[in-house]
Amino acid sequence: MTEPYNNKTTTSSTQKQSNKMTNEWITIDQIKDAAQFVRLNSSTEPQVGIVLGSGLGEIAESVENPTVIPYSNIPHWPTSTVQGHLGRLVIGYLENRAVLIMQGRVHYYEGYSMAQVAFPVRVMQMLGIKSLILTNAAGAVNPAYQPGDLMLITDHINLIGMAGLNPLRGANLDEIGPRFPDMSQAYDREYIRFARLAAGELKIPLQEGVYICLAGPSFETPADLRFLRIIGADAVGMSTVPEVIAARHSSLRVLGISGISNKANLDGNTLTTHEEVLEAGKIIAPKMMKLISGFIQRLVL
Ligand code: HPA
Repeated sequence: MTEPYNNKTTTSSTQKQSNKMTNEWITIDQIKDAAQFVRLNSSTEPQVGIVLGSGLGEIAESVENPTVIPYSNIPHWPTSTVQGHLGRLVIGYLENRAVLIMQGRVHYYEGYSMAQVAFPVRVMQMLGIKSLILTNAAGAVNPAYQPGDLMLITDHINLIGMAGLNPLRGANLDEIGPRFPDMSQAYDREYIRFARLAAGELKIPLQEGVYICLAGPSFETPADLRFLRIIGADAVGMSTVPEVIAARHSSLRVLGISGISNKANLDGNTLTTHEEVLEAGKIIAPKMMKLISGFIQRLVL
């Protein structure tokens, strides 16, 4: 990060220094730099953005005419450090639609600020993308869910946001969206309908529920999980919500799908591990791929 975002014309050196030290903010110039780099490296103009969560990266292998750009080459782009997140952009075609796929994302627990976690969504918006498909691996909170299930996200609980961690904190990026964006329909109702239709046609069983975002990286205690269930969550994870907030800030339409990788450990008698999450990804990825393809076919762009 070179220059901290500031919408005033002058910035005190102390402020600059402290922003650099915390490295928290992103700037319009940084977003434009990254978007320009992507444009220079691919002549495809993507219409749909897709973020692939833990263990789901192989879905990008189906892209036709792919251009692959490692995150580390893109200016200001945060680099994923987590096993199961490849860390590259794949731009090409799925179902004859121009797509930009993120094979892996970054998380708050890796040490990035919320604004940095949402940076890729900012770049997608700058590239002209209007539709965003977010996937993740999530733990079941709803005791009826089984590992391997897909869950259509109908709404979320921004638990870490309630504690103050929001990607929109700091000066508002006025040219992108309003200071106080509405979140009443964070997950697009028409997209939810398209996903249901696609799942029905493809005979893919689909749960529907509320995703809750925690900071991680430690998994939940049984008491945490009982609390999350009481407040209305069906699945829990460590991602997606900051991206949805940035997307809605800039009026991108969002579809969210969780792959349920592990059962709710409500009684404390089973361990939860990242390996288990990645293993479940192998069962979930083919179904997720089919559902995403069926959804994209229905998209009117
Ligand atoms: N908790 C939080 N995040 C997760 C889980 C979980 O059980 N599984 C996959 N991501």
